[in-house]
Amino acid sequence: MYRRTFLATGAALALSRPALAAGTALRIGLITPPAHQWSKSAQGLADRLAAKSGGAVTLTVLPAGQLGSETQMLQQLQTGALDMAFLTIGEFANRDADFGALLAPCLVKDIPGARALLAKPTAGELLDKTRALGLVGLGFGLAGMRQTLLRKPAATVADLAGRKIRALPLPQEMDFWTRIGATPTPLPLPALYDALSNGQIDGMQIDFEGTWNSRYFELAQEMLASNHMIFPMVAVASARRWKVLPDDTRTLLTAEVQSALSEILNAYDGLDAAYRGQIEATGFPVHTVGADFFGPAIEGWYETWRVKTPILTKLEADAGRA
Ligand code: BEZ
Repeated sequence: MYRRTFLATGAALALSRPALAAGTALRIGLITPPAHQWSKSAQGLADRLAAKSGGAVTLTVLPAGQLGSETQMLQQLQTGALDMAFLTIGEFANRDADFGALLAPCLVKDIPGARALLAKPTAGELLDKTRALGLVGLGFGLAGMRQTLLRKPAATVADLAGRKIRALPLPQEMDFWTRIGATPTPLPLPALYDALSNGQIDGMQIDFEGTWNSRYFELAQEMLASNHMIFPMVAVASARRWKVLPDDTRTLLTAEVQSALSEILNAYDGLDAAYRGQIEATGFPVHTVGADFFGPAIEGWYETWRVKTPILTKLEADAGRA
């Protein structure tokens, strides 16, 4: 039985705030390390929930894959063993290929373009599809634009032929690197440092943030600032847990997750530039390349995936590409 609590020391304040169920202890899982923006914003979310509920709602942040891989976290969300997560698009795209359409190469050119795309109704349709997976989609966030970090430099796309490039294990991303002539090598975030240092991979698709924070560039010789894909994040709650939460807790959570996501969506223009600057300041070569670097592989990719996932055409229209 829940005890209704009011936050206020004064009656006016008490009336202006929602009544919250005491003792709602929630957990959120992430694969990103504590220094990553997603983890920092999750901690900010936890702090605000505690403050705004007067301690009635607590959120324990479990970063760095403490609860296991995203596959394991998704299972925990489905059974109700986990309340919330910030997940990459990978788990979704492997269950419903429509999600992978968000990773269309060069669909938008920068973070403002990505942010605008994720605010459009087509992205909203994808968010609603999380219901079918036993989740409540609370909104999209993103990480930095995808770049290409290489152990050996590449002057043209032909130099990538046969190179083992780390990709997310989802069909659209693997297909992109295959069309380029590289050998896509699926690896999750926690495996990257070792794989790059022991030569299991020749390069990776990654962002400036991870490259700086995890010092991947120290194991490489060149970074192509290719901005060739966006990297959406999906903030989800367990549908099983969501339906037993009191209304006022759901209202508070919905609002505060939105502000965490806004913080994330707005952070990455600056973060991409700042982390790139820090990498370059070490003397490490970062070379900007455009969509033309990848050649005809991109158009071939679109021709195939428009047929496999018709939602791609709507995303192209939203992005102003079509
Ligand atoms: C990655 O796997 O590259 C990644 C995962 C989470 C946040 C950013 C990047």
